[in-house]
Amino acid sequence: MGKLIGNAIFGQSGGPTAVINASAAGVFTEALQQTGTIKKVFGAANGIVGILNEKFYDIGQEDPAELELLKTTPSSALGSCRYKLADQAEDDTDYKRILEVFKKHDIRYFFYNGGNDSMDTCNKISNYLREAGYECRVMGVPKTIDNDLFGTDHCPGFASAAKYIATTIMEVYLDARVYDTGMVTVIEIMGRHAGWLAASAALAAYKGHGPDLIYLPEVPFDLEKMLADVKRVYAKTGKVILAVSEGVKTRDGKFIPELVGEVSVDAFGHKQLGGTAAVLANYLKDEIGCKVRGIELSLMQRCAAHLASKTDVEESFLAGQTAVRCAVDGITDFMVGFQRPETGPYKCEIKLVPLADVANTEKKVPLEWINEEGNFIKQDFIDYAMPLIQGESKIAIEEGLPRFAKLKKVVVK
Ligand code: F6P
Repeated sequence: MGKLIGNAIFGQSGGPTAVINASAAGVFTEALQQTGTIKKVFGAANGIVGILNEKFYDIGQEDPAELELLKTTPSSALGSCRYKLADQAEDDTDYKRILEVFKKHDIRYFFYNGGNDSMDTCNKISNYLREAGYECRVMGVPKTIDNDLFGTDHCPGFASAAKYIATTIMEVYLDARVYDTGMVTVIEIMGRHAGWLAASAALAAYKGHGPDLIYLPEVPFDLEKMLADVKRVYAKTGKVILAVSEGVKTRDGKFIPELVGEVSVDAFGHKQLGGTAAVLANYLKDEIGCKVRGIELSLMQRCAAHLASKTDVEESFLAGQTAVRCAVDGITDFMVGFQRPETGPYKCEIKLVPLADVANTEKKVPLEWINEEGNFIKQDFIDYAMPLIQGESKIAIEEGLPRFAKLKKVVVK
């Protein structure tokens, strides 16, 4: 593959994480160094929406110190989107527009940072550009707290969310047993249809300060069975902590909030989750009669940069940096993935996964990692997750509070 000279664009898509900007830092610092091939580096405002609207920022004009701070700045610094491209056979308007914008700005490198839906977007764009005879190297940079991307051992963003969840549950555990009266605490954890994040509650249990019960979406959720589980623990200790994935569904396919009302749907047809803890807490209060608290970890679990895993920060940076190096070397249509050695100590090795394989596939927690009762997770998960949450990310502090990156965001004319 010959040398391809032109500009590069990077976009962030889907739900943010504590470390998605570390991948941005990886892409930007590497792309800005590739002066022999990459002339200018752009950041798309709100992912693909920014490309369609021709709104992107000139990253070359940013202060390198602020780009460095991206490593410890949570949320998507460029803005994100949940925009679904139409099927090209049905409506190619967006594709034509993307080609027009790419040609106008001589964009020859496209890096897209996101989850399954975003890899689908990447894949569709790459196919269209190829058919149109426009040479552009397209690389996916993985990201999702849900940890559900196919073909990679784990996903940037997962470990930091897992570390926050485990730490927070350990703290809540101490608080939730101070009184000499009974108490049930329901903790709702994100992760959509995969239980990886909810499983991370087991890390708190491993340390002796964790939930009594963990429910993942991989197993059908039975309200009465859960009630029986809670009653059994309550009878013994008078204190019960449940960790419940937002994605648990009843046998007839209903999310818990759907038992009490309608839920909205996003552009990809995903139901807006959240509210499970409140519904279950009300139910348990009625049934058990003791004090019950429902805690939804909500956005806090995916933006807690102060508790990010150093391993996750470094690997997220590596993913972005590797995507650029691969593209400059002539590789296209892959997502950067991770693998670990089958034996011996944990090490993060790079593997490339075809975009087409990742697009729209969800990787679930192996059923054999869940206990027979369907209410806890086995040691296999602890062994898997422990190396990923290691190390403390030191965020910059100014006047006792975080100093996050402040980008100039100079719009490209
Ligand atoms: O996909 C990542 C994720 O954080 C899910 O865990 C969660 O269900 C979803 O995004 C929430 O999306 P939004 O931020 O669009 O409400």
